[in-house]
Amino acid sequence: MKRDLSVPRHVAIVMDGNGRWAKKRYLPRFFGHKAGVDALVKVINACADRGVEYLTVFAFSSENWKRPEDEVSGLMGLVLVAVTKYLGKLARDGVKIVIVGDRNAVSDRLRAAWAEAEETTRHNTRITLSVAFNYGGRWDVVQACRHAVADGLQPDEITEARLSGYMAMKHAPDPDLFIRTGGEVRISNFLLWQVAYSELVFTDCLWPDFDVHALDAALAAYAARERRFGAVSPGHADVPAG
Ligand code: FPP
Repeated sequence: MKRDLSVPRHVAIVMDGNGRWAKKRYLPRFFGHKAGVDALVKVINACADRGVEYLTVFAFSSENWKRPEDEVSGLMGLVLVAVTKYLGKLARDGVKIVIVGDRNAVSDRLRAAWAEAEETTRHNTRITLSVAFNYGGRWDVVQACRHAVADGLQPDEITEARLSGYMAMKHAPDPDLFIRTGGEVRISNFLLWQVAYSELVFTDCLWPDFDVHALDAALAAYAARERRFGAVSPGHADVPAG
């Protein structure tokens, strides 16, 4: 079956605004993250229903360690709870889970939970959910270079294609659509290498409020864009003189 090109094959999301969502309700920030997990589970299925094949979310950045200790430990605990609560459902829904990021700094329990999530879902094909955890775009470029050098690649063998094969997201095509919720207009070190030609959509919607309608609005914005990848659109090239 031919792919509908107006639907992005790969959507990447910075799920921002959990803290403010909680604050508006006079709740501790943790409750915003908790509501954020519930929003994510709905968005995964909505993306799959609309033909998105890859969804990648920024769950914890390399810089998030700078947050207050109780928020960091709350987020770590939340991930463990989320895996327990939702892994069965996601597995049944055909979701393949892949974790990207530096696993060295996380606890043995969390590493084991990630391994279980990946192992349980590895044969699923409906949609691939990549969870960026302890991830940073610059970290990714550095680790890719280190592995390429360790493999003995010579300078002239280091090409964009070869380096892409060492990046943490090597299992997925580059994102077609990058969404950031929460009103900030920046990339914040997410998938720096991979978003070179992504369409960017920023919305004021706080992540826990991001529902199917907000998703459809972002997908409609994407469908209205003209992707040129550095080329000139048909009919806009100079007409040769004479
Ligand atoms: C940004 O909001 C959000 C985060 C740093 C964490 C997002 C994580 C989740 C939704 C949980 C993911 C869990 C799994 C299992 C994938 P913020 O805290 O920066 O919000 P603010 O800008 O309003 O303060």
